[in-house]
Amino acid sequence: MVEKFGDLIYTPEEASGEAISKVETHTPKIECPDKVRAGEEFTVSIRVGPHPNTVQHSIRYIEVFFKEDGRVFNPITLAKVELAPEYAEPIVTLSLKLRRSGVLYVVEYCNLHGLWEARKAITVE
Ligand SMILES: [Fe+2]
Repeated sequence: MVEKFGDLIYTPEEASGEAISKVETHTPKIECPDKVRAGEEFTVSIRVGPHPNTVQHSIRYIEVFFKEDGRVFNPITLAKVELAPEYAEPIVTLSLKLRRSGVLYVVEYCNLHGLWEARKAITVE
C-alpha cells in the first residue's frame, strides 16, 4: 500500500525514530489569541527553529492553512511564504480576519528533514 501524502508530514505526536530529535527544531511555533472577534483583525506569528539557515540546510517555505468550521471543502490556504537560504529567517507574521472558528495549520519544509506540521484551534466569538 502506498502512503497518503498526509502520512509524509511529520507531527510532534507521531514523530518516531530519528525524527524525534528533530521535533523541537522543526515544528512551527504558532502564537496568536485562542479567541478572536468575528471580522476583527488579529496577528499570528509563526517561527521555526532555532534551525540552520544555509544553502545546504534551511527552512525553504512556510504555508498556512485554515480549516473553517461548517465549510464544505477545507482547508483555505491563507499564505505561502518562500524563504531564500541565508537571507530570510523562518519567521512570518500575518494579519488575519476570521468569520468562523476553526483550526490553523502551519506546514514548513526543511530541505533535509521534510514537512512538519503544527496546528492551533481558534474560537471566533
Ligand atoms: Fe532541518
